[in-house]
Order: sequence, then C-alpha cells, then structure tokens
Amino acid sequence: MKLPSRYYKPLAIGAPAPFSEPPVTLERMIHFVPPHLEKVRAKVPDLISRVDVVLGNLEDAIPADAKDEARRGLIEMGRANDFGGTGLWARINCLNSPWVLDDITGLVGEIGDKLDVIMLPKVEGPWDIHYLDQLLAQLEARHGISRPIMIHAILETAEGVNNVGAIASASPRMHGMSLGPADLAASRRMKTTRVGGGHPAYGVLADPSDEADAPRAFAQQDLWHYTIARMVDACAANGIKPFYGPFGDFSDPEACETQFRNAFLMGCVGAWSLHPNQIDIAKRVFSPDPEEVRFAARIIEAMPDGTGAVMLDGKMQDDATWKQARVIVDLARQVAA
Ligand code: GLV
Ligand code: MG
Repeated sequence: MKLPSRYYKPLAIGAPAPFSEPPVTLERMIHFVPPHLEKVRAKVPDLISRVDVVLGNLEDAIPADAKDEARRGLIEMGRANDFGGTGLWARINCLNSPWVLDDITGLVGEIGDKLDVIMLPKVEGPWDIHYLDQLLAQLEARHGISRPIMIHAILETAEGVNNVGAIASASPRMHGMSLGPADLAASRRMKTTRVGGGHPAYGVLADPSDEADAPRAFAQQDLWHYTIARMVDACAANGIKPFYGPFGDFSDPEACETQFRNAFLMGCVGAWSLHPNQIDIAKRVFSPDPEEVRFAARIIEAMPDGTGAVMLDGKMQDDATWKQARVIVDLARQVAA
C-alpha cells in the first residue's frame, strides 16, 4: 500500500522550490467530541464547517461503562456525516486496556474508509506503533480499504519521551505526535493537578535588590518547554507533524492562547480544542500573523534565488532567514487556500 508523502521536505538550496509543496492539510485544531452523547453527535454537522479536525474520543474522560456506547456513537457519527475536507480522527483506548481491540477492529471495519487518523494514547516506544501498524494493515486488507489510516501518537509517559525519536520514525504511517501534559505530569511524578499550561510555583526569582525592602521579582516559567522542543525536533527530523495537546482551564482563554502560541512559535502546527471557545483561539494562533507574513514576503522578494545577504529595516537577511520566511509564507498560503 502506498503511504502519503511526508509533511516536511527539505527546502531547496539556492533555487526556490515551488510554493506549498507537498500539499499539506491544515490541522490547526483537533476538536474533541465525546461520541456517546447524542446531543453532541447532533452538533457534528455544524462543527464540520468550523474546525479542521473532528476527533471522536474513546479514551480518558469517557466513563468505563460508556466505552461501548462511545464506540457505537463514533461509528454512527462517521456514517451519518460527510466530512468533506475536515479530518475525521479517533482517539482509541490505550493498548493495555480491555477496550482497545474492539475499538480498532470496530472502527476500521465500520468506518475505515472515512477515518483519517487513529490517535494512540500512552505510547511508550516504537513497539506500540509497530503493533498498531500491523493490525491496521491486516484490517485494511480484510475490508478492502485502499487509503491507509494514519497513526498519531500521544507523548504522555516518561518512557515515551525517552523514546521520542524512535516513535517518530517507527512507521511510514506516522502522521504526527501530540504532547499530553496531564498524563505526562503523572508519569513523571510532577506535583501538579493541571492539564497543561503553567504553574504559579514554577518560576525563577530575580537576585535580591540592594534596597532592603524591595520585593524580588518572580517570573513564571514554561513547564512544557523541554518536552515540546524534544517532540518538535523528533517530528521535524522524521517529516511528521508536532502538536500541543490539551489546555484544561476553560475559564482562562488568555493562558490557553499563550500556551498555544509558545507551541506555534516552537514549531507545532496545531493543538487540541476541548471546548468550543478553544476553536477560535487555535485558529487565530496557528495561522500566521499578517504583519509577519508581509515581512516574510519582503524577504523572499528581496532575495529571488534564496541566496546572498540583504538588509531590510536594519535587519540582516540571508539564506537562512529566506528559509524561515518560506515557512511563514507557505503556511499563509495554506490558510488562504
Ligand atoms: C492528554 O491525554 C493528556 O494526558 O494530557
Ligand atoms: Mg492522556
């Protein structure tokens, strides 16, 4: 079976490559829905026009006694809707759970022709990807599915982070990876009960001032920087897509936007939306800023063959900034398409 080309291709040195090659699907937000709830399923047609990806969640947050109903609901959702250009994904239960085999065989057998990506939680190493890869190959052959179902791993265990490079390169079926900060925090024995975002106690204190009573400035730091950086490197090196995962405090859209923006700046292409108000946040954050796009376009215009050095507004531009500019301009074209 022919698998799709990779997400990234190295930029040509010297000669500018054609824009927007290869064609890349925009996946700025993976919107989670609990498919066992009928009132949620009823809203899917409206959702399809608002989001890049609809994901039926079968794993955490779905009660154990609703697992079968959630699987059935997702199958019904897949059958009842025309997803057009919007992605249909499923987050299945983890590989050591009692539900996962029914998840995989049920989904592929019933809606395998519509399902774009299976999100696999709690991936520890390449062996987890190999298992799912083989199973999907067998089921696709049995059901005559000609378009391969891709695999997206959640990076949410200490062992998974340890093996991040091997997971990213485990199969040509790998679509990408998401940071799962909640499970990862538990796996690492971090002292937090938050789902993503910062923590008021995790920061750096400025040196004491010479003035006796002057308060020392405290700056909160990003708890997730290290893992996001490792994940982005592993994904970029293997031509797959990195994503920030969930942000659990729905009452703080500003903090959500800041976390998403950090991930975007570091190379992530999207994040999960768990609440409708996070859809527009993700859309805003993971689409490039028009001001940045204008400046990037000026760099490309000033260096038509992508080589040499020029000054723009007092800032040096060369072959490397030309490549940076291409990333931004290419993304702007995808968003506009
Ligand atoms: C997501 O699954 C997480 O654990 O953060
Ligand atoms: Mg998790």
